[in-house]
Amino acid sequence: MRISKIGQVLLLLIFISSCQGNSSNKEKTISSIKDTKVLQYAIEGKILYENYCANCHQKDGAGLGKLIPPLFESDYMLEDIGRTARIIKYGQNGEIVVNGQIYNQAMPANTKLTNLEIAQIMTYLYNIWGSNHGVIDANMVGGYLQK
Ligand code: HEC
Repeated sequence: MRISKIGQVLLLLIFISSCQGNSSNKEKTISSIKDTKVLQYAIEGKILYENYCANCHQKDGAGLGKLIPPLFESDYMLEDIGRTARIIKYGQNGEIVVNGQIYNQAMPANTKLTNLEIAQIMTYLYNIWGSNHGVIDANMVGGYLQK
């Protein structure tokens, strides 16, 4: 049995496109962070994210249908860093639109999280999935929470 030339080309194309799939934003997690300080924050942030956020938003940030909005490539999260700090600390209620989809459920507050912990979660979220914001530290979070 022998695979035709066209068959070989097709196989090659499938192979190439599956390789490209691996470098998509979905795969850009902390292993792609180069800066040591960002990495230190993000490692702690990932643990905190998985404890405090992933139940709802999912490990990969995809969210849950029409109930929980995504964080992965969320236009809403990317457009306002300060607001994200306030959502984490104080929760979020009322209608919002994320990537064109309306959400209207309650997100609980996390009043026990310290500014440093919020900073670590945010450094994680803003340096994976194609974002590259650098360190968001506790002082910056303190400032965002004041607004
Ligand atoms: C109990 C489920 C739940 C948990 C836990 C939770 N969220 Fe949310 N989150 C929601 C819901 C529901 C909304 C949408 C609220 C609305 O409809 O107004 C939301 C909205 C958001 C938004 C703004 C919308 C978007 O998708 O960009 C961000 C950012 C966010 N959450 C981040 C977090 C982070 C970070 C954590 C962990 C500290 C967290 N959330 C924990 C349920 C949750």
